[in-house]
Amino acid sequence: MLRELGFEIEAKHSLGYRLVATPDLLLSSEIESGLNCQLIGQSVVSLAETDSTNALARRLGEEGALEGTVVVADRQSTGRGRLGRRWESPPGVNLYCSILLRPEIPVQQAPQLTFLSAVAVVETLQEVCHLSADVKWPNDILVGGAKISGLLNEMNAETEQIHFVILGVGVNLNMTDTQFPDVLNYPATSVLLETGESVDRLIFLQAFLQRLDLYYTEFLEEGFSPVRRRWEKLCNMMNMQVEVNQGGGSLRGTVVGLDAEGALRLQLDNGQVERILAGDIRPVKI
Ligand code: BTN
Repeated sequence: MLRELGFEIEAKHSLGYRLVATPDLLLSSEIESGLNCQLIGQSVVSLAETDSTNALARRLGEEGALEGTVVVADRQSTGRGRLGRRWESPPGVNLYCSILLRPEIPVQQAPQLTFLSAVAVVETLQEVCHLSADVKWPNDILVGGAKISGLLNEMNAETEQIHFVILGVGVNLNMTDTQFPDVLNYPATSVLLETGESVDRLIFLQAFLQRLDLYYTEFLEEGFSPVRRRWEKLCNMMNMQVEVNQGGGSLRGTVVGLDAEGALRLQLDNGQVERILAGDIRPVKI
């Protein structure tokens, strides 16, 4: 049984058993025991497999789970990405986690939490893996133009009231080349591929939750401004000429920041600032 869970055990005839190596498992008790958070991680659910941690967190939210509940899985059978895409979720290598929050904020401010989780992921990559990543509006995290982490935030609300928000976070930590699907819509990478070193998933997760807790409590007290400032610092397209593709057409301008609702502020050549609510941005090659 222990061997099936990944524990390496040496058996010596006369001496009995010796534990040689423990697996890189994400056990709820271990995750909880090292945490020193105010709101995040009051309850931690960790599973070997689930369909999608976001879907499970939503079910728990509907049953009344506490604010700060964290759902982690070693593997997702139907990991979800944005725009109905699949999120590749092989076992034993990456982080797939969802955090349930119950902020008392207006519904239209919920997207602000996406930027908060992006900042926490990028800063954790720097702190734990010594890897510099940057944020790409609206919610990608890239290293050298390749995606290392994706965020999928979902909300359960009625007209004026948020019941809960799910912050879904996937980070490619120890994934190797062969574990990426043959066909991807975008270039992707992992910490292992970038640094040549594998990451302890428990250490990464705890550092991330700790940082998220800090920024979330600050957000509840001070609002979006501190998060917005941090995000703008991590965005390497700030003050750059970009093209925004919005399906129907495209728009060119200079990125001048985020607004209070998380829209991208794009200054056009005539000086007018447009709010971009959705679309794909890329730098204009001069
Ligand atoms: C994207 O398309 O960039 C978003 C990917 C989000 C993936 C994470 S993994 C944990 C959580 N559970 C899911 O099913 N999706 C998110």
